[in-house]
Amino acid sequence: MVEGIKDQQMEVYSEAVKSGLYAKKTGLVGKYDNVRRYWEDEITRQFLRPYLQNLLHRSQSQMQRLRILDLGCGSADGYELLAGVRHRDPSLQEVEVDLLTPDVLGIYKGFDLNKDLILQARELYSHNPKMVFEQGDFTHGLPVSKNESPYDLYFASYGTCSHHNRDQTLVRLLADIAGRVEKHCLIICDWIGRYSYEWPSLWVNDFSKERNMDYVVSYIYEKEEREQRRGELQHLSLRLVSRKEAETIVTEASEKAGVEIKPLVYFDRSVFTGRHMDTAEYNPHAQPIRLAVNSLHEVNMRTDLTHLLVDYVPKRGFEFLNDYFEHLQMCWNTLIQYVGELLQRYDEKQQRFSVELPVIPGSYPPALRDMMERMRQVVEGIGWLGIGLPRENIIEPQLGYALRHLITNLQQGQGCAHGLVGIFEVDKT
Ligand SMILES: C[S@@+](CC[C@H](N)C(=O)[O-])C[C@H]1O[C@@H](n2cnc3c(N)ncnc32)[C@H](O)[C@@H]1O
Repeated sequence: MVEGIKDQQMEVYSEAVKSGLYAKKTGLVGKYDNVRRYWEDEITRQFLRPYLQNLLHRSQSQMQRLRILDLGCGSADGYELLAGVRHRDPSLQEVEVDLLTPDVLGIYKGFDLNKDLILQARELYSHNPKMVFEQGDFTHGLPVSKNESPYDLYFASYGTCSHHNRDQTLVRLLADIAGRVEKHCLIICDWIGRYSYEWPSLWVNDFSKERNMDYVVSYIYEKEEREQRRGELQHLSLRLVSRKEAETIVTEASEKAGVEIKPLVYFDRSVFTGRHMDTAEYNPHAQPIRLAVNSLHEVNMRTDLTHLLVDYVPKRGFEFLNDYFEHLQMCWNTLIQYVGELLQRYDEKQQRFSVELPVIPGSYPPALRDMMERMRQVVEGIGWLGIGLPRENIIEPQLGYALRHLITNLQQGQGCAHGLVGIFEVDKT
């Protein structure tokens, strides 16, 4: 009897392990690491917000709900990304902060070539009849039938457009979309950036060279395992895209459709924090900055701030990029060093800075000055707290957000990061 009860109890633990809920979760590595959740998803949401707001306003004024087509949806991460877009600056009292609430969504259709991902997406969302998934190949044109109503938002995320290894297939897809628009739509394209600091070995001035990179998916393993499994690592052929190349593709699609596909904004995502900064696969000078930023956002973990400092190594013949990255590096490091000083000079017992702080020069870029001032307020406001690990759990995550704000303000949407995103509009009204 006692043995029977014991067996039963052990079964409970076995079931828990099988469910995955007992898996050790960390934000330091993996697909959904802290940079993905707190930086990449959030930066994308920040740029999308005003356009999504406008789109919702349009559909609601027509008494219609929003129709979304996610091209290369994987297991529907794009839906989660969109569903997480919030109203701008909701007050502390508000509870309803999401823009895309279930009642305003008409349909989310996800489309992907990989049948396992489609099955996973169906498993995750089978309870929601508004979520539909189909398997197919977007290089064969727009995957919608003739009698299907047009969509309001054509969405691609996380480098998916770089799966078009030949530009002509993306030109055709965009032209198909533009041709089918009845009134208005938004199109989001997401490519792998040509000039990321992760791969200066692939930078070229002649765009007819190094068009598709051999992208090795090595970052899913930690260093040791990565080397042990080198032979089994998966490789993808992905189109590297600069702003100029994106503009050429979109202009060609506009001409093909005879309809304007208007660029609204381009932005660079993950300038110093792309996944291959940590692997140094394509740049021997790359430093594990993503891991250090992941650590800033990790609960109860203290970060050595010197691990965040970037030492950009220039590439000859690319002065326009060297100037840009050196400026970013200087701003980035200045903020980190300033926070280091704040922590040194703060006297927890006296609840104030023990030594006067250096004046922030007026010549610094406004975003840097703002973030330095903010971090001063954070350290001053929280340094004395004592309970709850204020450095690990409040000051360091705030430094993460300050760095994110800084880099988001200084990026120029030129393809100088892991991801280049373009937001476009077709307006026939
Ligand atoms: C980088 S993943 C992005 C997945 C997802 N959108 C996300 O945000 O995580 C690229 C996705 O594009 C899909 N894909 C690649 N080539 C495709 C094609 N020719 N047609 C349709 N889907 C494709 C892949 O299966 C993969 O799910």
